[in-house]
Amino acid sequence: MDINLIDQDFYARYGPPHEQFAWLRANDPVHRHPDPDGPSFWAVTRHADVVHVSRHSDLFSSHRRLALFNEIPEEEREMQRMMMLNQDPPEHTRRRSLVNRGFTPRIIGRLEQHIRDICNDLVDEAKGRDSVDFVRDIAAPLPLYVICELLGAPVEDRDKLFNWSNRMIGAEDPDYATEPAEGHAAAMEVYAYANELAARRRAEPRDDIITRLLQPAENGEALDEHEFDLFVLLLVVAGNETTRNAASGGMLTFFEHPEQWARLVAEPGLAPTAAEEIVRWVSPVNLFRRTATADTVIGGQPVRENDKIVVFYPSANRDESVFDSPDVFDIGRDPNPHIGFGGGGAHFCLGNHLAKLELRVLFETLADRLPKISQAGPARRLRSNFINGIKELPVTLA
Ligand code: HEM
Repeated sequence: MDINLIDQDFYARYGPPHEQFAWLRANDPVHRHPDPDGPSFWAVTRHADVVHVSRHSDLFSSHRRLALFNEIPEEEREMQRMMMLNQDPPEHTRRRSLVNRGFTPRIIGRLEQHIRDICNDLVDEAKGRDSVDFVRDIAAPLPLYVICELLGAPVEDRDKLFNWSNRMIGAEDPDYATEPAEGHAAAMEVYAYANELAARRRAEPRDDIITRLLQPAENGEALDEHEFDLFVLLLVVAGNETTRNAASGGMLTFFEHPEQWARLVAEPGLAPTAAEEIVRWVSPVNLFRRTATADTVIGGQPVRENDKIVVFYPSANRDESVFDSPDVFDIGRDPNPHIGFGGGGAHFCLGNHLAKLELRVLFETLADRLPKISQAGPARRLRSNFINGIKELPVTLA
């Protein structure tokens, strides 16, 4: 079988290459994959192997060559290297424990009513429109408004944040940015903005999550100014596109599986397991990269120090050795040991409780208020091998 797991045009047309993933899991689960931009990499496609790589930061570094897949300009690389996502223990552990304080299920749970209000407002606004694009009108604004709330960002900055996050993630998509440099320029602009916002929060503390993260922890440790700015930047990047595409990918999946939508409408108590199943099915984050720090073995395959290792979450999430009927979308699936938020270990998604809350409340609201929602035109997918995204999904509400 012809294997190309990074062809942006394929993702734009069809989404993740599930047939290739299935073939690789069965025949060549740790596959030597050519990369037109540099030396080849190891493509890791089985659940157990993605978990192994994710849980051994000592052997598979996020810092040596960054956790991002594509090469980035020197100026941005320095900034990226300092971000938590691209750090290894023990440096990563110190920062992560400081920010964990703001993202516990209890603290995140307090946002539920606020998120419900946002969802209801978005539905009200959509009902007033002649034509509704689910991405533009619902899936994109929801996480953006939630992040603005977390950051205490003024409402009028929402459009700016929307535009930046599109340009960053859409650097390979002609609808958003004409060339990758455009995406990097946007990242630098967000960094400057994060700087300003952080300074404002320091000067005018508020009763919000982000202000609390500025206070020292019980052991006296605190994030320094630069660390705090970088964390704000990471939140803007990590919390937006991921949740947006889980929501829009979830809606599209319901259109493709109308019996599951009818089931949710009849039984809204399934929303929590539906949210998990959406993350498994859609796998909004397609891949992350690591770099081997020593000669070692992944799933029986020897790899050498400094080799590039790329884990593919959508593949792991359809692994037939872990999931019964992995190609069935089942909103009641339980247990559901998907790894859409990462394979565990140091970098496991900080925002997973928040993302699940947003998805649960969104689909509860939609099932309750728009049970007849239907697809009104073709979905257009994002041209990206990093985010499994949908950029347009026309819908009819009733
Ligand atoms: C890390 C997925 C939503 C913040 C990650 C990772 C994945 C992921 C795969 C990397 C895990 C690893 O390397 O082991 C997702 C998905 C989301 C989502 C699928 C939505 C459905 C969010 C939200 C936030 C967030 C809402 C914040 C508000 C982060 C941060 C990291 C991260 C800060 C880096 C953690 C670290 O390096 O320690 N996410 N994420 N994510 N995510 Fe999420």
